[in-house]
Amino acid sequence: MREPHPVDEKQLGTDLEKVLVSEEQIRTRLAEMAADIDRDYEGRDVLLVGVLKGAVMVMADLARAIPSHVEMDWMAVSSYGSGTSSSGVVRILKDLDTDITGRHVLIVEDIIDTGLTLSWLVANLVSRAPASVNICTLLRKPDALKMTVVVKYVGFDIPNEFVVGYGLDYGERYRNLRSIGTLAPHVYS
Ligand code: PRP
Repeated sequence: MREPHPVDEKQLGTDLEKVLVSEEQIRTRLAEMAADIDRDYEGRDVLLVGVLKGAVMVMADLARAIPSHVEMDWMAVSSYGSGTSSSGVVRILKDLDTDITGRHVLIVEDIIDTGLTLSWLVANLVSRAPASVNICTLLRKPDALKMTVVVKYVGFDIPNEFVVGYGLDYGERYRNLRSIGTLAPHVYS
């Protein structure tokens, strides 16, 4: 397959510095993760919980790669103060529609950066008495972690660089890129 995709090329030419994870790499890895999830949850109904907005792309592609029944629900969270990553104090903007008591919950994320969001979210969901809570994330930055977060499914460990694309934004832009990459310095200035 031709890389990068034309949609990305348009922005690659100006705003993206380099591609860290290509569209093809994302597709291949998500298929592997979906197979792992399907095997691990065999015989159990899993509720995929996506964390808006970044997880939209991962959820859409991961869910379609799982050959068994899954349900999907969504949460939107935000921090008090300047940023989720810095404060770790989270408030719920949109809660689940689903009662997760006794359910097998798999949180679907685009990225774990400091781990503060996920560590709060896991504690919040565990308090609702589900049968299990696990995490699936496409990206993780090991060098940025401030909290220990047990993650069952990780797509890629990446360097501690600011990345956009495939759900990840800079000022709400670039979420629609098919690959994941770093922004050129001129974008910030
Ligand atoms: C991103 C990402 C995670 C969180 C990870 O969301 O989707 O939820 O940050 O950061 P942490 O590990 O440092 O807590 P963001 O707050 O950017 O919102 P968005 O998904 O709407 O872009």
